[in-house]
Amino acid sequence: DLKGFAFDLDGVIADTARFHGQAWHQLADKVGTEWTSELADALKGVSRMDSLELILKAGGHENDYTQEEKVALATEKNDNYIKLVETLTPADILPGMKDFLDELKDNGYHIVLASASKNAPKVLKYLQLTDYFEGIVNPADLSHGKPDPEIYLAAAKLLDLPADQVAGLEDAQAGIESINRAGELSIGFGADLKDADVKFDKTGDVSLAAIKAQMN
Ligand code: G6P
Ligand code: MG
Repeated sequence: DLKGFAFDLDGVIADTARFHGQAWHQLADKVGTEWTSELADALKGVSRMDSLELILKAGGHENDYTQEEKVALATEKNDNYIKLVETLTPADILPGMKDFLDELKDNGYHIVLASASKNAPKVLKYLQLTDYFEGIVNPADLSHGKPDPEIYLAAAKLLDLPADQVAGLEDAQAGIESINRAGELSIGFGADLKDADVKFDKTGDVSLAAIKAQMN
C-alpha cells in the first residue's frame, strides 16, 4: 500500500520548466548552440552543470571553455532563472496540484520533494507550499542525477518508507526512469512518458482515485 509521495517540482508543481528553458535558451544563444525542442526536452530534470555540458556539446563547444568559465556560464543562467522565479505567486501552481496536495494531507499520506533543483526551497516559498512537505531531498548531497535512482531512494529514506510504499511524480523521462529504478510507483504527466506506471495527460487529472484506477 502506498504511504508516501515524492514530488518532482519543475513541470509538476509549477510551470518552472518553462523558466529553466527560457534561461537555458538565452545561454545557448550566447555560446552559439542552436536551441531546439529536442534539446529543451533533454534538459528536463537534468542538473545545472550537466545541462550546461549538454548545451555546449550540442553545438560542439565542449572544449571552448575552461572549468572556471563553465561555472561562470552556469551562474549567469541561474541568475536569469532566479529573476523569473521571483515573479512566481501561488497563482502559478499547476492546475490540480494544490487540491492533490490537500487530498494527500487530509488522508494522512507523507509528502517530500525530490527535485534536482538547488532553487527548490525558494520556489516552494514563492508558491506558498513549503508547509506541505515533511522534507526536501538536498540535491547537493547526491552524487548522481536523474535518471540514476539515487534521488528517489533518498526520498524514500526521508519518508522512512520502503520503496514499494512510495510513489514519485514526474514530467520528464529522466525522472520516470529514476523512480522506476528506485522500485517506486512512477506517475507521469505529459504525452510521451511511455515508461510511467500511471499516466496523466495533464496535472489537473491527478487524484487518489484516478491513480488507484490505473493501478488495478
Ligand atoms: C530540475 C529541472 C532542471 C534543472 C535542475 C537543476 O531538475 O528540471 O531543468 O536544471 O532542476 O536546477 P537548479 O535550479 O539547481 O539549477
Ligand atoms: Mg520536472
